[in-house]
Amino acid sequence: MTLLWSRADLLAATSGRFPSSTSHNIAGTGVSIDTRTLNAGDVFIALRGERSNGHEHVAAALHSGAAAVVVHEPCGIDDPRILHVADTLDALRDMARFARARFAGRVVGVTGSVGKTSVKDMLRHALQACGATHYAVASYNNHWGVPLTLARLPADAAYCVSEIGMNHVGEILPLARMVRPDVAVVTTVASSHLGLMGSIDAIAREKAEILRALPAGGTGIIPDGITGEDHFARNAAQAGATLWRAGHNADCPVYAGDATHDARGSRFELRLPGWRGVAHINAPGRHMADNAMLALAAAYACGADMDHAVAGLATFAPGAGRGAMARVMQDKVALLDESYNASPASVRAALDLLGLVATGRRVAVLGDMLELGTFARHEHQALLPALRANADIVFCCGPNMKTLFDTLPSSLQGGWTPDSEQLAPLVRAALRAGDTVMVKGSHGSRMRHVVTALQTDAARVGPA
Ligand SMILES: Nc1ncnc2c1ncn2[C@@H]1O[C@H](COP(=O)(O)OP(=O)(O)O)[C@@H](O)[C@H]1O
Ligand SMILES: [Mg+2]
Repeated sequence: MTLLWSRADLLAATSGRFPSSTSHNIAGTGVSIDTRTLNAGDVFIALRGERSNGHEHVAAALHSGAAAVVVHEPCGIDDPRILHVADTLDALRDMARFARARFAGRVVGVTGSVGKTSVKDMLRHALQACGATHYAVASYNNHWGVPLTLARLPADAAYCVSEIGMNHVGEILPLARMVRPDVAVVTTVASSHLGLMGSIDAIAREKAEILRALPAGGTGIIPDGITGEDHFARNAAQAGATLWRAGHNADCPVYAGDATHDARGSRFELRLPGWRGVAHINAPGRHMADNAMLALAAAYACGADMDHAVAGLATFAPGAGRGAMARVMQDKVALLDESYNASPASVRAALDLLGLVATGRRVAVLGDMLELGTFARHEHQALLPALRANADIVFCCGPNMKTLFDTLPSSLQGGWTPDSEQLAPLVRAALRAGDTVMVKGSHGSRMRHVVTALQTDAARVGPA
C-alpha cells in the first residue's frame, strides 16, 4: 500500500503537534473522516459537523488502527498517534494543499449544474486505461469532499479527477484554488439550486470561477452554447488558459458528429484539436453522449493516449438511480431508473431519454424537484413541453408536481398523489406489457419507493 502520510509530512502540512514525549513512527496509507468506514492505517481527522462531532469517535478510530488522529478539542486520551491542530477542517485543507503541491501528474477539475459525477466517473474510466488515476469518491465535491479527495492523492499517480460543487455564491473559487486543475471542465449551466443562487447568470458566473484557478497554458472545456459564455471566455483569457468549446457545430474545437443512440448507449465521431476517432458510451441518452464528449476532451487535454482512453470509457456504466435500465414485472416492462435525484435540466434529459429508448407506451413518473425556492412553480410547469413530446401518460407526486399535473391535458394525466408511497401502487396498476417507465425526482421526494414497488416479484402487469 502506498505511504501517503508520514509523521514529518503531517507536521509539515498542518503545523500541529504530537505529544512531545514520543516520536512514534507514522505511516498513513489513507485518510478518513468517518470511523464507520475507517481502514487500519488511515489518518483520521475529527471534523466537527452540524450533526456530528468526530472528536467523539477518537477512541474508536484509535481502536480501529488509525495511523494518526487529528484533533482540535481535548479528548482525554493519551496516545502518541494524536496530532493536535488549531482547527481540524483547516488541517484537512492544509493536507489537501500539501498533497496537491507534491503531485506531479495531471489534475482535472469538474464542475457544472448537472453531470459532474457522470463526467468525473467517465473520465476516471478513460484515464484509468492510461495510467494510475485517483478520483473523488461518489459526489465528494463540497468543503470537505474536495480536500478529502486531495488529501488521499498518492504522489505517484498519473492523474487526479476532482469534482467541485456549489450551492452558494463564492464556493467554487476557494475549492478550485485548492485543486489547481490543469484542465477544468464545466458540464452545464442550468437551474439547479436556483432558489439559493437567484439567477441563471449568477450560476454561470459562479461556475466560470473554476477557470480562474487554471494555470497559464491550462485548458478549460465548456459545452458550446453554454449560458453566460462571456464569463467563461473572460476568465479563461485572464488566466492565460485555452478555452475549448465542445459541441455539435463543425467550428467547435471539440466536435461530436451525429450520434447513433439506442437503449444501450451512443456512438459518435469525435474530433479534437489534433485527434479524431469514434467514441462510444454504454449509457443511453444524448446527455450521456455529451458528457462522454467532455470527458474524452479532458482526457486528451491531459495528454492521455486516446485509443486507450476511448477503450477505457467503454467500461463506464450508469449507476443505480442514474439512468440504469432494467426489465421489471416479469420482463414485460422496461424501467429507466432515474430516481436518485432531479433538477429541471436532468428531468428534461431523462424525458428525452424516455422518448429516445421507448418502443411502446412512454410512462413518466415524476416527484418534486427541490431547492428551487420561489422558482419552483414556474420550473415545474415549464416541463410541460418536454412531457408532451416524450410521454404518453404521466404520474406525479408532491405539492410542486401538483401545479404541473393540473396543467397537463387530461389525456396525459395518469394520477397524482401527495407522496411517492401512495403513488407506487397507482403506477403499478396502470402498467401494461411493452411499456417503458421512467422514474425521477429529487432525492428528498423518495422516488425509490416507486422503483422498489416495480421491482418486487408481486408486480405483475394487468391485461392489455
Ligand atoms: N449533461 C447533462 N444534462 C442534463 N442532465 C444530466 C447531464 N448529465 C447528467 N445528467 C443527469 O443529472 C442527474 C445528476 O447527474 P450527476 O452526474 O450525478 O450530476 P451531479 O454530480 O452534477 O449532481 C442524473 O439524473 C443524470 O442523468
Ligand atoms: Mg455529483
